[in-house]
Amino acid sequence: MKLLAGNANQDLAAAIAKRLDTHVANAMVHRFSDSEVRVEINENVRGEDVFVIQSTSCPANETLMELLIMIDALSRASASRITAVIPYFGYARQDRKVGPRTPITAKLVANLITTAGADRVLTIDLHAGQVQGFFDIPTDNLYAVKEMEKHIRAAHAGQMDKILVVSPDTGGVVRARSLSKRLENSDLAIVDKRRPEPGKAEVMNIIGNVAGRHCILFDDIVDSGGTLVQAATALKKEGATSVSAYVTHAVLSGDAVARIENAEDLDRLVVTDTIGNLDQRVGAKRIETVSVDRLIGEAIRRIANEESISSLFD
Ligand code: R5P
Repeated sequence: MKLLAGNANQDLAAAIAKRLDTHVANAMVHRFSDSEVRVEINENVRGEDVFVIQSTSCPANETLMELLIMIDALSRASASRITAVIPYFGYARQDRKVGPRTPITAKLVANLITTAGADRVLTIDLHAGQVQGFFDIPTDNLYAVKEMEKHIRAAHAGQMDKILVVSPDTGGVVRARSLSKRLENSDLAIVDKRRPEPGKAEVMNIIGNVAGRHCILFDDIVDSGGTLVQAATALKKEGATSVSAYVTHAVLSGDAVARIENAEDLDRLVVTDTIGNLDQRVGAKRIETVSVDRLIGEAIRRIANEESISSLFD
């Protein structure tokens, strides 16, 4: 088995390699002077089971091209199987036609990855479950919920009976219920969120009784932070004791970190390292990061050994 990494998640790739007691193979992923991606794999991969770790995160077009070109290089170098390990699968939010003459980028990117030569995909918390079916190759969609559960239990020790899981929008109810089930079937509340335009969230109502509860907002992506900040304010207004957000993918674009740091009603944001922008969060008082290295490392080990990975979904 060999691990390779593009430039998107080098820290995470190193942590996964450590878990697997191996190293990240020597590969050069640079640019030509005109900015085209230049890849050279400096180790023999003929006949190897290769895992390429690369999130298609910001800058999305750059990281995506790096992934495609690395897969192409590996396929031409006769790797026996190529697994694209994409901790954060970008372009997933355009997963259906939202209006006339609009694209479905999640399907387009899935096609590109398959055409480049990937044999399978391993990812975490796809924006919508059905995106798994956009790939015509085996695709495993892991969930970071177990790592979040551990953090919630440690951070709310002695107060678990006051926990209430909150879905930040109606589309996230299934995800929120999966967390609430793990937390002794805690109660659920839903934020009625509207988007007057892309990138702008507007909270309308809270559905459920949140007074006196420790609210856990559970989401897949924090991008501008607008959804979380507005939801936290609405929850506190309704009498919530505390509001913590647990979100897998820390997109955190623009001034999101400052927006969250200044949000008095949001007590804590816990994210994972599926996106390698860890520098952005250094020194942030409200933002904590839990790693998914164990989860991905174990999934890679099982795929390489042809073992079942279904217990990782429990
Ligand atoms: C939406 O469907 C997603 O699950 C997130 O709620 C959304 O992407 C968060 O965006 P922002 O942080 O910009 O409000």
